[in-house]
Amino acid sequence: MTPPEHPDPVVHDWAPVPLPATDFDPLPHRLLHEEPVARVRLPHGEGHAWLVTRYEDVKQIASDPRLSRALTVGRPITSMTPHTLAPPGGVGRADPPDHTRLRKLIAPTFGRRRMAALRAHTERTADALALRTLGSGPPADLAETFVGPLCATVTAELLGVPAADLDRVQEWRAGVLSHETTAAAGESVKKEIAGYFADLARHRTDHPGDDLISELAAARAAGALSTPELVSMAVMLTLNGLDAVRNIVSTMVYVLLVHPDQTARLRADPARLPRAVDELLRYIPQRGGVGMPRVATADIEVGGVTVREGEAVYVFYPAANRDPAVYTDPDRLDLDRDEAPHLAFGHGAHYCAGAQLARLEAEVMLATLLARFPRLAPAVEPERIVWRTGTVNRGPETLPVTW
Ligand code: HEM
Repeated sequence: MTPPEHPDPVVHDWAPVPLPATDFDPLPHRLLHEEPVARVRLPHGEGHAWLVTRYEDVKQIASDPRLSRALTVGRPITSMTPHTLAPPGGVGRADPPDHTRLRKLIAPTFGRRRMAALRAHTERTADALALRTLGSGPPADLAETFVGPLCATVTAELLGVPAADLDRVQEWRAGVLSHETTAAAGESVKKEIAGYFADLARHRTDHPGDDLISELAAARAAGALSTPELVSMAVMLTLNGLDAVRNIVSTMVYVLLVHPDQTARLRADPARLPRAVDELLRYIPQRGGVGMPRVATADIEVGGVTVREGEAVYVFYPAANRDPAVYTDPDRLDLDRDEAPHLAFGHGAHYCAGAQLARLEAEVMLATLLARFPRLAPAVEPERIVWRTGTVNRGPETLPVTW
């Protein structure tokens, strides 16, 4: 029998699977090695999209201006969640010139100078939380007593979210960032958050403080951005500040605890910490499933495949961070690794706006723990640590430690 002239292309079904610790999602790992530009169908939305996993291909797609985020708005592109996480109007889903304008508005807040100024204050907060934890244990749940509160304090102060509102914001965060939240529930939570930040910005227009929401409120009053843009910016920054850093830094602590030899060397020479943080960022697959797609505005060649105009493309940064063409023995943690820069914060125009902040928080938290807890160890067998499932950002539910 002769094969059909146009056989149906292979489409891989990819649903997020519950994964403990730093276990890598098997499908993208296999595709990285066997089919680096592949068609995938995710649990929600329609049709299929391309998934790009190799380091150089991911960089190419993430920096090509012919791939649009704005064109994803209103399209039922196959996706990991039933509702889109980033609201239209946000930086994540804008193209130039809107994207450039929005990034410029927040650049000073997250720039190197502001971050340097924030370091001493973050160190003091971390030290106070460490002392409080020491006073209350052992054992202690470090995610609850140390990492989570530090992220919440820094985010609340930088953005200007009143500390009294943080619990409410944390509840919304859990609702929005779950793979299990239905489309209707997701939309209703997002409406509530939007209302909250719109009110807060209105208040800050009349009573400005030294914080980002006050700056954005002033920019809106001057006509530099709209209310929906302001709201989605505030939501995105708050959710990232509270959730992404809490999860990845808790996972970093776990990884250090289960690699005692490498951690002992780091403890002996803390100057190596910035490089170690980068290796942890490379090594930890921080996302459950994949993030936001892009839509091709022209036919684009990538990794020997032609992505046609109008097709959706995902890049998977955690896979690029394990590319054997770029990293020696990529699935191994090596805190002394000095190879290509990782892509954990993305690449190109949409490179993470909070990367300096996340790095700063991670460095300060790990340095404080190494200095204050010379005998830090897991309080339970590491296999018994419970990991979040069905969430966008992976991380431990709790991090029980002793000292
Ligand atoms: C370690 C923690 C974090 C990781 C691993 C991380 C990673 C990422 C990644 C992979 C992207 C997407 C790149 C793309 O769309 O191609 C991103 C975008 C973004 N992140 Fe982060 N992030 C972290 C923490 C933060 C923090 C603390 C903030 C701010 C408070 C933040 C704010 C943003 C914003 C605003 C964007 C959208 C940028 C744009 O589309 O132009 N992130 N981040």
